[in-house]
Amino acid sequence: MTTKVLVIHGPNLNLLGRREPQVYGSTTLEEINLQLLCEAEKAGVELETFQSNHEGAIVDCIQRAFRRIDLIIINAAAFTHYSYAIRDAVAAVHIPTIEVHISNIYQREDFRHHSVLAPVVSGQVTGLGVIGYVLALQGGLNLLVRKKE
Ligand code: DQA
Repeated sequence: MTTKVLVIHGPNLNLLGRREPQVYGSTTLEEINLQLLCEAEKAGVELETFQSNHEGAIVDCIQRAFRRIDLIIINAAAFTHYSYAIRDAVAAVHIPTIEVHISNIYQREDFRHHSVLAPVVSGQVTGLGVIGYVLALQGGLNLLVRKKE
């Protein structure tokens, strides 16, 4: 069966390209998704993307992934720092998950230094810009291969 990857983008990431370009760069969310789809095709995997500004919609999306998706890549944006509901959803579905942040959350305001998702994800990519999504995809797929060995 083909490996299925789900990429989840949290609140305000729909504004990428226009939103604080000095922090997040000028690449739009659509461009990020297109690049990810291109990388997925090269790797021979299926990839779907989801963006929401709503915590519950992200929880629903993670729950729908149960037994259907092999790898989740998530930038939960501000929810990273306080959403126990998203953290619990990630823990509940038992799907290898990689957390991505475009900016280096450890270099910014204190409230961004803590990720409530970190203890339940397989790995984190932070501070490398939008290429971090592609690196998360590559690293996540590598993790799946290593798990099968
Ligand atoms: C972010 C970092 C978060 O602190 C912030 O709330 C975001 C984006 C990042 O990608 O760097 O919205 O997750």
